[in-house]
Amino acid sequence: MSASILPFVDEPRPAIDPHPLSDYVAWAGRRNRNPILEVFRERFPKTGDVLELASGAGLHINYFAPHFPDVAFQPSDLTEEVFASIEAKRAEQGNANVRDPIRIDLTDAATFPSDERRYDAIFVINIFQVAPVAINDGIAALAAKTLKDDGRVYIYGPFKIDGRYTTPSNQAFDEEIRAAAVPEWGLKDVRDLEAAARPHGIVLTETIERPANNFILVFGRAGSPATNHSTS
Ligand SMILES: C[S@@+](CC[C@H](N)C(=O)[O-])C[C@H]1O[C@@H](n2cnc3c(N)ncnc32)[C@H](O)[C@@H]1O
Repeated sequence: MSASILPFVDEPRPAIDPHPLSDYVAWAGRRNRNPILEVFRERFPKTGDVLELASGAGLHINYFAPHFPDVAFQPSDLTEEVFASIEAKRAEQGNANVRDPIRIDLTDAATFPSDERRYDAIFVINIFQVAPVAINDGIAALAAKTLKDDGRVYIYGPFKIDGRYTTPSNQAFDEEIRAAAVPEWGLKDVRDLEAAARPHGIVLTETIERPANNFILVFGRAGSPATNHSTS
């Protein structure tokens, strides 16, 4: 496929740096936003509420929002350092359907939204390479509290499945990030994410392959009509 159809795909990769405002995270976002949008366009409702966790610079939420003009998008992150970037991108795009960012720490239930709003979809992109599996305990607890009965959680990133790398390039990427010797850095296993979510009544319903050996893991409430065909 030509670079004109997939702009930025051939950009050289900056050095790996998980800081949400880094060149590396921006580069990754430019590569993955269209493959993620393709899935969301098929699955998000036409109206309703969507929450992004770990929004970082706000690249994705502000890219997706214009495609769903009647959906309200709620950005969030652990660190308020990124809020100015989310707001600047919202202003650049003129995105009236992106709310003010809120602080959510996925390791601290006291920071989870306490209002009455219920979300049709919750999504999170590229956090598990640099965060522990326990983060999915937080995501599932938050989903159990705030997801509509038929809502879905979408988790995008590279993962191992059943203890195995899905490709040699995923193994090479894992070895590269583990070389930084930060204890929680490294690819996580889909089965461990499922185990963390299950006690909250949140189960894996689909595993969708995306380019460059990434996946979108789709979770929903156990027992809701659409999760009865769970793939887990
Ligand atoms: C690699 S960046 C990805 C940002 C964005 N999702 C993207 O793909 O461009 C990881 C993000 O996870 C956030 N994060 C890390 N720990 C978190 C936690 N405990 N709760 C919520 N967000 C967290 C960081 O602040 C950072 O914005």
